[in-house]
This record gives sequence, structure tokens and C-alpha cells, in this order.
Amino acid sequence: MTTTTTETIAPGTGPQFGAPYGVTYWPDVDAIAKASHELVTGPRPRLSEARRAEVDAWFDDHCATSKAHSAAAMTRIPGGVQHNLAFNKPFPIEIVRAGGAHLWDADDNRYIDFIQAGGPTVLGSNYEPVREKVIELLHDCGPVTGLFHDYEYKLASIIHDFMPSIDMFRMLGSGTEAAMAALRAARAFTGNAQIIKVGGHYHGWSDPLVYGLRLPGTANLDAAGIAPGALADIAEVWPDDLEAMRATLEANKEKGGTAAVIVEPFGGESGVTPVRLDYNHHVRELCDEYGALFIFDEVVTGFRTGPGGAQGFLGVKPDLTVFGKCVGGGFPAAGGVGGRADVMSVFGAGIGAPGGVRALVGGTLSANPLTCCAGYWTLVEIERTQAAVVAGRAADRLRVGLETLIAKHELPFVTYNLGSIVHLHTSGILQLDLREPASFAEVGPRKESLEEFGAAFTAEGLVTLAGSRLYTSLADTDEVVDDALARFDRAFEGVVLEPIS
Ligand SMILES: Cc1ncc(COP(=O)(O)O)c(C=O)c1O
Repeated sequence: MTTTTTETIAPGTGPQFGAPYGVTYWPDVDAIAKASHELVTGPRPRLSEARRAEVDAWFDDHCATSKAHSAAAMTRIPGGVQHNLAFNKPFPIEIVRAGGAHLWDADDNRYIDFIQAGGPTVLGSNYEPVREKVIELLHDCGPVTGLFHDYEYKLASIIHDFMPSIDMFRMLGSGTEAAMAALRAARAFTGNAQIIKVGGHYHGWSDPLVYGLRLPGTANLDAAGIAPGALADIAEVWPDDLEAMRATLEANKEKGGTAAVIVEPFGGESGVTPVRLDYNHHVRELCDEYGALFIFDEVVTGFRTGPGGAQGFLGVKPDLTVFGKCVGGGFPAAGGVGGRADVMSVFGAGIGAPGGVRALVGGTLSANPLTCCAGYWTLVEIERTQAAVVAGRAADRLRVGLETLIAKHELPFVTYNLGSIVHLHTSGILQLDLREPASFAEVGPRKESLEEFGAAFTAEGLVTLAGSRLYTSLADTDEVVDDALARFDRAFEGVVLEPIS
């Protein structure tokens, strides 16, 4: 197995500003690329037929309520579940209880929770001190009034304290809305239309940003239902390719100039394709050279990396930052955009907006007291408990344990972590390189194998994000991590390698 851990960074030191961080090393991106290439060009990891039968039997024997309820839901809900993160093979499990590091389903099976609701619950699930503050607020004014509440100011202020680049903050309803608003602000402020994104980076599902999703090179492959015009002023550049970024910025000069470059600062899909440690510094320089705004999408990294986010850790100052997830502490309606006061002033709206520029954003439930209260106390608690550091340490322990298991079972899997975000590439579906024609035939079987592994992990009591990503939290003690590793050990026993023709 190729080792992916070469560059060591002491926690809370290095190029960062701000509070302590949970990232203790930066992975060797060349080693990851090499190992990922071997994973997708070598034999396909699959679950053996016997093990698949055992997993199916486990679901049938242990999850009767989930099976019945999800079958009923198929008649009223497209696809049977409302959430993209729900894992549907062999059927979705119904979660009824959450606390700390664990989830319980409707049949009272307990799971270790590495999905962490897709990232926001860095304090652990259903964290009591935040829940109590929210209940207090609900007693006082209910979830929403449509008028100003002091928690709006408290949240904007604490974000500024943690991230000095955020002069001003506009709270919105989701990360998707926030990314959409960031593009709008960039276009309104610069007067330019062109946007550059990086292949595989995810910024929600708004019309202009459903472009080049998940796998680099996919352009408008996922854009069914979106008018071609919505994608006309957006370009996708290959990850880690600064020359392509420069060439696109140069070409955009002919189209009136680039409004903004938007990135996930650790790499697409929270680091599925991790960037080099200095990548964002170079993009910052390119943006300055070409007069484009630089937007960090910190929906995942914001506060999960540490109170200062990826920007604090990396020491890069974006013009605008997109927030979601942690900014609402796992409570609904979590999103917002913040950054330079002069750019943010385009959201002033109404008759007070400077120079007549008015970019309308907002919504009935945006910045409701409940979410602002939950977000504020979540950030207070993240700092007080050093949750990102604790979660990062848990993730390091998990990753080291996974490396040992991968070597023990002689598997081609690839694992590394970026603080509390652990990647475990098993099937290689997201590592396929669409520039190589042979990759297309691999999409179907590797999707199947990802589903097999996801189901096998669940049957061992491990809930992961799509079978390949594991978020850790403050609640992940050494005992929880070691318990998880024993379960992965059993799950890895059923893996076979299927030759590809
Ligand atoms: C990096 C990133 N940006 C934006 C979004 C969209 O946020 P939301 O799901 O709140 O719309 C996500 C969601 O997973 C994300 O991971």
C-alpha cells in the first residue's frame, strides 16, 4: 500500500492564523493520485457473493421496521427518501434516535455515526448544551418572527472574531443558497459575468453550479432540467492545474472578465481530490492578477477544520466565504455568505444600497432566531471544547487504524484524512479519470461495489457517507474509534478482487 502521509504539520501552528486546528498533517497528494490510479486500473474490489448474502440476511433479520417503512415511503416520496445522503442499498435505514457518537434505528440497532449528518455536527449528534439553548429560545419567541433578533448579530460577530476576512455576513437558508448568493455578489460587484469552478468541486445544486460535479470533466452531465443559458458563463478547470486556471482567466478577458473563482479549499467533495497545501495561495495570486474575486466554499471546512476554517488553517484570505452546515450547528436553514464589506454591501438592498447596485437575496426563514441561536452556541462550544482538534485526533487514529487494516487484508483501498474528514476510497468510483476512455465502463460496476461496501459497513454497525467518507466529532473517543476499527476489520474480511477485462 502506498503511504499517503508525508507532510507533517503540528496542530495549531504553521501558516495559520486564528484558533487551534484539527489538521495535524497534510497528505501527499501525489501518493494519493498514484494509489487512486492503481485502485481504478487494478482489479475491482467487490464483496464476495457469500458475504453479500450474509449482509442481505442481516438487513432482513434486523431491520424489519426500516424495510416496511421505506417500502411504504416509495409510494409517496420520489426514490423513497428525501435526502441525497441516505444510503438506499438494500433499503434505507430509519433513524429514530441520535446522541454523541451513535445513531439508533427504528429496530433499535445501534450504529457508530460517521455520516455526522453530512458534516455539521462536529460536536457530536444532538449535542445537549446547544439543544438546551435552542429550547430556551423556542420558549421565548418560537423559531421565527420575521424581525431582527440579537442572535443574528451575535452569530455574525463570532464568525468575524474567528475569521477576520468576514467583515460582514448575510445569513441564508442553505449552503446552496449561499453559493448562489456569492456568485451574484461577485457579478454585481465586479460587473463581470464569468465564473470559474474546479472539476469535481461541489457547491450545492443551484442552476449555475450543477456543473462539473463529483468527477472532474463531467461539465453539464448532471444538469438535466437546467437551461443551457444558466451554464453559459461558467467554466470548469481541472483540479490542481494552475496553468489551466490561468488560461481560463486569460480567455475570459475576451468575455468581459472573470467575476470569481470558487473552490472547495481542501479539494473537491471535501478532499476526495485533495489539493496541494499551496494551491489556494496560487489561486489567490491568480485572482489578484486578473481582478477576479476569490470565493472559498467553507460549507464543510468552516468550523470543522477549526474556528478559523480552512482559510485560517491555510493562511489564505478569500474575498467571500460560503457557509452552511456547522453555521447552524446541525439545525435547519444553515447557510450564509460573508466577506469584504465593500463586496457584501451589494446585499444592502432597498434604497440604501451604494451606487444603485442591488443584489436581492433572502428568504422567509433565512436567519431565523432558532438557526442563529444554534449556530452561535455551536461556535461558542466548538471553541470552548476545541472540538475540531479532538475530532481531528480521532480521525488521525481512525485513519492510522484503517491503514493497518488495509495492509493486513492486502486491499488496494486508499485512505487519508484532512483533520476530521476521513476518506476511504474502496471502489474507486470517484477516482475514475474521465480523460481515459476505459473509465466509462468502470462507472457501473464500481458504483455497485461502493453500494456493497456501504451496506457491509452498515451491517457491521458503521454509518458512513456513501460508504467512502467518515466525519469524526468531539464525541469520538479512543474507545469509539477502536470499536469502529474492529468492525471495519470484520467488514474487510468479505472483500474479493474481481479481475477487469
Ligand atoms: C462544499 C459544499 N458546498 C455547498 C454545499 C451545499 O450545501 P446545502 O446542502 O446546505 O445546500 C455542500 C453540501 O454538502 C457542500 O459540501
